[in-house]
Amino acid sequence: MRRARAGLIIVAVCSVFLLAARAVVAAPLRTSATAKGLFVGAAVNMTPFRNEAIYSDTLRRELNLLVAENAFKFDALHPAQTTFNFTDADALVAFAQANGMAIRGHTLVWSNQIPSWLTSGSFTRDQVIAILRDHIMTVVGRYRGKILAWDVVNEAIDGNTGQLRTDTFWFQKIGPEYVAMAFQFAHEADPGAILYYNDFEAEGSGTKSDGVFNLVSGLVNQGAPIGGVGWQMHKVNPFRITAANHTNAQRLAALGLEISITEMDVRIPLPSDAQKLQDQALAYSDAVTFCLDEPNCAALVSWGFTDKFSWVPGTFNGFGDALMFDMSYQPKPAYTAMQTVLEAGLGNAPPVPTGLQATAGSGQVQLTWNASAGATSYNVKRTTTSGGPYTTVGSSTTAAFTNTGLTNGTTLFFVVSAVNASGESANSTQVSATPQAAGFSLSATPASLTINRGACGTSTIGITRTGGFTAGVAFTVGGLPSGVTASFNPGTTTGATTLVTACASATAAVGAATLTVSGTGGGLTQTTPVGLTVTSTADTGGVTVTPTLAANGPWFNEQQVRVTSTANLTALSITIVIQRTAGVSFSGQYNTVGGQIAQSNTSTAGAVTYQFTLAAGQTLGPASDRVFAAQTSGSGTAHPTSGDTYTVTYTTGGQSFVQPGHF
Ligand code: XIL
Repeated sequence: MRRARAGLIIVAVCSVFLLAARAVVAAPLRTSATAKGLFVGAAVNMTPFRNEAIYSDTLRRELNLLVAENAFKFDALHPAQTTFNFTDADALVAFAQANGMAIRGHTLVWSNQIPSWLTSGSFTRDQVIAILRDHIMTVVGRYRGKILAWDVVNEAIDGNTGQLRTDTFWFQKIGPEYVAMAFQFAHEADPGAILYYNDFEAEGSGTKSDGVFNLVSGLVNQGAPIGGVGWQMHKVNPFRITAANHTNAQRLAALGLEISITEMDVRIPLPSDAQKLQDQALAYSDAVTFCLDEPNCAALVSWGFTDKFSWVPGTFNGFGDALMFDMSYQPKPAYTAMQTVLEAGLGNAPPVPTGLQATAGSGQVQLTWNASAGATSYNVKRTTTSGGPYTTVGSSTTAAFTNTGLTNGTTLFFVVSAVNASGESANSTQVSATPQAAGFSLSATPASLTINRGACGTSTIGITRTGGFTAGVAFTVGGLPSGVTASFNPGTTTGATTLVTACASATAAVGAATLTVSGTGGGLTQTTPVGLTVTSTADTGGVTVTPTLAANGPWFNEQQVRVTSTANLTALSITIVIQRTAGVSFSGQYNTVGGQIAQSNTSTAGAVTYQFTLAAGQTLGPASDRVFAAQTSGSGTAHPTSGDTYTVTYTTGGQSFVQPGHF
């Protein structure tokens, strides 16, 4: 009875959930419980539900059924005769539905938590019946088709007599017929819901259990639409299931009724200790074993799930720690014991895949993950809502999958699970990706530069690539003021950045301008502005460059660049270009710094170029008249030097400067 019904509900609630219902070892409780056709649930306290993410995260991860601890009670839903408030109830139903969880409704008719407008109103019997009918039709009707089971009548039997309690509002206003009426109204409002009678201390044998049995068998015999009996199961540690529980379940089954453990907790006399927690674990694992063994047991619901939020400490002085997670949401021995029973016999599914990564392309997302030992395939699941529920979008026999046909601009969340003949693992950690049209955009950091005449400034151009765009991007710049030059390093890149260096000559136009940096690649051109302000101070960073003609005989010529610095230089590069006038060629080069300077030269028909470069990572301290010399030999005429040029490029204080000039 239970297995067929649980499966149907799951299909109706969320078809994806069936996939998660396969065998797993050490998975969340809902996975193995669903595999075995059992609902595992908990009562929800709306305050942490709304305010602590870990509270709702744990619910959705572990459970396949929810019930409201208070939000569905008469006073909460129906605060004035003509006022209903469904805010909390709606939120809970929406959450359960979004996460593939069934819902129990608790409770329609109870002597507690009913509003004073009702209890202190002077209503006739007929009026109270009308109010009861209106309440049930409105509440049950609102959630028709969404509630698995309703606790229609709660705690109506007197434990001493086994008869209906006579001290309740409903009994006193309506008489004993209120019970059958309530079931009738609820059935009218939602014929698909399973209608329960719910009570405490009626789980085994004795006057109260017999009283409940007599009440419900009477209802069955008169054809009332009752479908189940709820056993609250508020217990004191240590507690064990006994033969009396089985006998009771079976006599209810013989009436055609299912049962559910609806409010289990096992309160520990404080302080608790390791032994008490082990004892408590036995109570919980007993309850799971019991429900799996008794075919008419549909659900095992605890009254809360974390000791952080439980009615026990506030209700039973000196007791606490009654639930399966501790105050920090860590599983207690009770949890592990339940898990062990639920997973027994399910076989070993592969481990959960790790290392899932998503790369967005245009209209597609490529996924890769680490292979799981023993997996024969993987299910790839997707959602547009972080955390699920997920829809399976494909299956792969390798640890990679490309999901295509996607809408650019919509963020998607993916998980994968591993499958083998024994079952399916739980889902991996979620990753997200947003497919984008293939392309790129540019940005400048800093977005504006201020440079002095004679100096240079650098900005990093970032290239943000989307949709799998990998083409090289070539850079140009527009809008240069007169006397300003700019260059890119590199000029074309398949990477994520390039550097733009703008240099102002000693006579550059002073003022503000906007450079337009353009990148072109893959048939697209994008631009980004770079603000540029050229200031008039010819700041050299404390470096003086003096061109010096050291020798200019007809046979030998030496031209020096002398560098005087009052600051540390962290980069220095000197290029000297000597024209090859008739008969002139390279003869030598030297510097007065030493091994920190790499020097080299090249010759063409028209010129000899001498290069001096400070090695990377070296710093030159302040000094006067460092000499960088370029020598040529000639063939009888003095070499005319005024067309020979030099460029001194250096960095000091993090700023680059260029001092060009000629001899
Ligand atoms: C309790 C809630 O846990 C408390 O928050 C509230 O103050 C009182 O009711 N039997 C039931 C539940 O059927 O509705 C009760 O819930 C606990 C006992």
